[in-house]
Amino acid sequence: MTETNEALWLASPRAALRVGPAPVPRPGPGEVVVRARAVAVNPVDAVSGFARHRFVYPWLHHPAVLGTDVAGEVVQVGAGVTSLAVGDRVAGFATGQERFRNSPAHGAFQRFVVLAADLATVLPSQTAFTDAVVLPLAVSTAAAGLFQSDQLGLALPAAGAGERGETVLVWGASTSVGSNAVQLARGAGYRVVATASPHNHDLVRSLGRRTSWTTATRTSYEPWWVPSRATSWPGRWRSGRVRCPAP
Ligand SMILES: NC(=O)c1ccc[n+]([C@@H]2O[C@H](COP(=O)([O-])OP(=O)(O)OC[C@H]3O[C@@H](n4cnc5c(N)ncnc54)[C@H](OP(=O)(O)O)[C@@H]3O)[C@@H](O)[C@H]2O)c1
Repeated sequence: MTETNEALWLASPRAALRVGPAPVPRPGPGEVVVRARAVAVNPVDAVSGFARHRFVYPWLHHPAVLGTDVAGEVVQVGAGVTSLAVGDRVAGFATGQERFRNSPAHGAFQRFVVLAADLATVLPSQTAFTDAVVLPLAVSTAAAGLFQSDQLGLALPAAGAGERGETVLVWGASTSVGSNAVQLARGAGYRVVATASPHNHDLVRSLGRRTSWTTATRTSYEPWWVPSRATSWPGRWRSGRVRCPAP
């Protein structure tokens, strides 16, 4: 690869973000390099200075490259990668500022980004990079809450998953994380009960149209109301609830 790289650098915890040259990365085993065509900015990226250093990424080494969400084309493939090939259009979760990684080459905010191949997915040809790029962190967050064994530990989504007769309550289902939680839970065969403002009811219903719905109104967010309704259906098991309201 003969091209040059450029990144949005954070030189020190309280420095301003600045664009500057960056090494052209090479993929390690199990990794790919992606030419970024779109990145997404999440609220966590906007936490600044002291708060970021003290509460969000206290372990982060500097200079750092932030950013978790990237979509683009695979330009290099590391040893052992069989799921992706050069030229694939992908979206992926960049882990540069994760505690276990702490590596500028793996941050999303640069032209060439190193991704773990198993944290990237091939995009359908009709899906725009700018549409796909909003998914990785939100999907990951929703999936962690629903499926990790130390969270709700629910069954994973599967093609053709049958109805389980169990219910998941998604509190704040119109949010970015919540709308992904609805679709993941439905994909795993759970019935979903959701809360959202009235102006978002059609949106939330459209995410789970394969099943019947109960959508509570935002004006009914008193903590007792939705859970007490969700527990009142005879013959239905509760599987858990995910709370995703905006901070
Ligand atoms: N986005 C991510 O990738 C990400 C990653 C990690 C963690 N999180 C956390 O996940 C939560 C949701 O973030 P998000 O980015 O998905 O949110 P978002 O997309 O910005 O959600 C905004 C929506 O939240 C709803 N809302 C606002 N106040 C609420 C309240 N008091 N109770 C319930 N819902 C409320 C409103 O929808 P209605 O008008 O329809 O109620 C609003 O339109 C936040 O706590 C965030 O810190 C997000």
